[in-house]
Amino acid sequence: MNTRLRMITDAIVWALSSVFLLVLLATSAEAAAPLDGASAWREECSSCHIAFPPRLLPAASWQALLGGLDKHFGVDASTDPAHGAAISQYLAAHAGPATKSPAASPPLRITTQGWFVHEHDELAPSVWARPAVRSRANCSACHAGAERGQFDEDSVRIPK
Ligand code: HEC
Ligand code: HEC
Repeated sequence: MNTRLRMITDAIVWALSSVFLLVLLATSAEAAAPLDGASAWREECSSCHIAFPPRLLPAASWQALLGGLDKHFGVDASTDPAHGAAISQYLAAHAGPATKSPAASPPLRITTQGWFVHEHDELAPSVWARPAVRSRANCSACHAGAERGQFDEDSVRIPK
């Protein structure tokens, strides 16, 4: 092999192995990166209802909910342990103030909290029963910004 050709093949081999090494480094960095709690929460907790904002329940409630996802209001909402841990951490860090409930039995619903009942006391039972509403947990039926965590009165539209 003449030296010139030798130099070229060496350069190609060198370039290819650097690319290979970079790909290897990039994939292992991705695997080792910790899961982002906010994304995991949005991904896992918004398929059946809106991803209820963390501030709407105290940390003890989120902990209890996350601990029983396999029996979640009659459905199996379990996630893999890595996602569960990331979500748990995210919800605890952004949770609302503690309630007066005994530590052993924190509230599991937003919709049974005193503030929720109070904010919605003007709504007749027939409104909750409308086909477009059906459940108090169906926040987005009336709150246009629910999925973005916005519940201010200006964006409330009650379906007929
Ligand atoms: C497989 C479907 C499913 C998934 C996934 C799911 N949920 Fe639920 N969730 C439900 C159902 C069904 C209810 C009861 C809704 C109702 O009463 O109308 C509910 C209710 C709730 C409530 C109580 C709402 C209220 O009435 O105040 C909370 C809080 C809640 N879910 C949190 C979560 C969190 C956190 C996650 C993600 C870790 C999650 N859910 C994932 C199905 C699901
Ligand atoms: C049937 C329609 C309906 C549903 C479903 C509903 N809301 Fe409301 N919500 C209202 C109305 C009406 C008000 C009162 C607005 C006003 O003060 O004039 C209200 C008020 C609120 C307020 C107070 C807003 C403020 O700025 O004063 C919050 C917070 C809230 N809702 C959260 C929720 C959450 C969370 C859910 C779901 C778990 C939910 N709502 C489900 C209709 C609804």
